[in-house]
Amino acid sequence: MTPAARVAAASEILDRILAGDPAEPALIRWARASRYAGSGDRAAVRDLVYDSLRKLRSRAALGGGLDGRALMLGMCRETGQDPAQVFTGQGHAPAVLTDDEKQSGNPPSPSEAMDLPDWLIPLWRDSLGERADPTARQMRERAPVWLRVNTARTTPDKALRLLAQDGIVALPAPQLPSALRVVEGARRVAASASYREGDVELQDLSAQLACAALPVQGSVLDFCAGGGGKALALAARGAGPIVAHDSDMSRMADLPARAARAGARVDIARPGKVSGTFGLVVADVPCSGSGTWRRTPDAKWRLTADGLRELSKIQAQIIDKASELTCTGGHLAYMTCSVLQAENADQIAAFLHRNPAFELVEEQSFGPWNASDGFYLSLLRRN
Ligand SMILES: C[S@@+](CC[C@H](N)C(=O)[O-])C[C@H]1O[C@@H](n2cnc3c(N)ncnc32)[C@H](O)[C@@H]1O
Repeated sequence: MTPAARVAAASEILDRILAGDPAEPALIRWARASRYAGSGDRAAVRDLVYDSLRKLRSRAALGGGLDGRALMLGMCRETGQDPAQVFTGQGHAPAVLTDDEKQSGNPPSPSEAMDLPDWLIPLWRDSLGERADPTARQMRERAPVWLRVNTARTTPDKALRLLAQDGIVALPAPQLPSALRVVEGARRVAASASYREGDVELQDLSAQLACAALPVQGSVLDFCAGGGGKALALAARGAGPIVAHDSDMSRMADLPARAARAGARVDIARPGKVSGTFGLVVADVPCSGSGTWRRTPDAKWRLTADGLRELSKIQAQIIDKASELTCTGGHLAYMTCSVLQAENADQIAAFLHRNPAFELVEEQSFGPWNASDGFYLSLLRRN
């Protein structure tokens, strides 16, 4: 495909996403229907789509409209490409620009330039204070790829050497040497020997730092286990026995295979069927995902004020339930991948008010300013 044909494809896919299709399935459907597109084309189209979703408002302003074509015009203007070289109408390139399109577009206003929904900007500012603008800017850029070295199986040095044999270059994080940032060959990770043999897992640095801060003596319950990222990170630190639970059994479908690959033992509890109490209960609750919007930028535009209120209620119910499963003297770790205070500190303050038997041991907020994705951890002890 020519660069202009890729722009035309991205424009069509963006139209489908703007009509309500989730981004990932829309890309997969396009790829299946476009057998002529090679892996380089698919990667380039995907980047065009994801970049535009991260920068939806500012590119809509620059391109003079909120549809795929205007977004691609906004992209050209933002990146300094001459739109006339892209919108040529030749072959599979987008049609030539109309006179209206040529006159359209404005520099983004300060709030458009944040690339956040308008209703959210006050909450974002209240939650992040002076970090609000830089963090919004960083959420407009592509996220780095981080690997967690499975220290139960190998060392960071050995993992780095094995990754290099597959053409993957990574650097250890200064604050956590078992966290490796991939600087070259990110697309080769899933097929690499290190990944297939369970020496490394994909996990963002912020989540890794949160898991590294947890006390791992005694039994562990990962109450909202999903794919099991937190359970596996704790297993690599020698925690156990570990039970994984999720209200949606299908979310844990890959966990047995991932655990086997990592050489970890994780028992699965059926939804609502956890018995006994645990020394550590991890509640990695469903949230807005506002800390990970560089990875799932369409979620940024789908979130509503009502949706956020609904999530807050669910989070309060989950932390209450998780607290009942924490033994006396044990710990409860509340986590979100959000930077919003309503889902983080406010939720913990309300919980501590309802549950005087718990005390706050430590609270940590991660983000591009000290780690990577936006992530929140509150560690509580049951007295
Ligand atoms: C943020 S995700 C967990 C990600 C996972 N811990 C990981 O590291 O891959 C939140 C999970 O909470 C689950 N969930 C939602 N409501 C729940 C509830 N009431 N009880 C337990 N799990 C719940 C969802 O199905 C989802 O898998």
